[in-house]
Amino acid sequence: MDLDAFTAALPKVELHLHLEGTLEPELKLDLARRNGVDIGQSTVEEVRATYRFDSLASFLAVYYPAMDVLVTRADFRDLAMAYFRKAAEQNVRHAEVFFDPQVHVARGVAFEDVVLGYHDAVEQARRELGLSAGLILCLVRDLPVESAEEVVEQMLGFGEQIVGIGLDSDERGHPPAKFAHLFARARAAGFKVTVHCDIDQEDTLEHLRQALEDIAVDRVDHGTNVVEDPRLLALLQERGTGLTCCPISNSFVTDDSKAPVIADLLRRGVKVTVNSDDPAYFGGYVTENLITLTRAADLGPDELIQLQRNAIDISWAPADVKEEFL
Ligand code: HPA
Ligand code: ZN
Repeated sequence: MDLDAFTAALPKVELHLHLEGTLEPELKLDLARRNGVDIGQSTVEEVRATYRFDSLASFLAVYYPAMDVLVTRADFRDLAMAYFRKAAEQNVRHAEVFFDPQVHVARGVAFEDVVLGYHDAVEQARRELGLSAGLILCLVRDLPVESAEEVVEQMLGFGEQIVGIGLDSDERGHPPAKFAHLFARARAAGFKVTVHCDIDQEDTLEHLRQALEDIAVDRVDHGTNVVEDPRLLALLQERGTGLTCCPISNSFVTDDSKAPVIADLLRRGVKVTVNSDDPAYFGGYVTENLITLTRAADLGPDELIQLQRNAIDISWAPADVKEEFL
């Protein structure tokens, strides 16, 4: 079996995926029609023509307005189900997926329609696809902190549906410490904590320091800049804190997949994992991300297996799902 076929067949775990980043152009147009929302484009080609990104900010400028097409509980369910079907086709057995409720609530959508719509899909995926999934509420760091406080307050009533809390969006001027009180609150209520430290941003190392030292996150999303600071790297290794890396997304945000750094960290025993981030926008789901890394950094089958072992290890999956996967 060649390595691409091996990669495709490998049972996988996805830990860094934004559900709103799985909105493919076809579904975007269907939902726009269903809800009478004018998105400014009417064909798949026109939608794809707007996908020109060379930085985190230029990506986010396309990503957020598209969310206007998501209005009802059924819309959120349909979006997540479309992703879970795609994931199951790629042999993903467990997925922990982000969503950005502040953006939807700001448009007048009820918090519970977002959470329950996504949760409907989690249940359906378990029943119909044998796929296990967890929802991670992501705080949008460049929206007013009061709106983050509001969704955290609401999250506390949805401990059955939500497994953890994250932090995403534009890092400039929005360090993790700004949300430390909310992470503490969520953790005390039993939620796991992860924080995006996007690669090569303005204050990435200081953001990483705050995430690891001040907030003591359970894992870091992206975070490969840790190689630049031996003290932080040692802390990461000592605690076994995992990194959720996304090679194809890296290529869009910084023009570099960072494959050698990801492979180097893997070979040094850091719990790195490979994931898809926003696949509908960046054009690759988890298999394509693994193939990209494999080709660029010359990985072998044992290393591909190790990436999946790392992922199930640092996942927040229930014990029975973990045992069955290993
Ligand atoms: N980084 C920051 N915010 C995001 C991302 C990302 O990769 N994807 C969706 N929101
Ligand atoms: Zn992300």
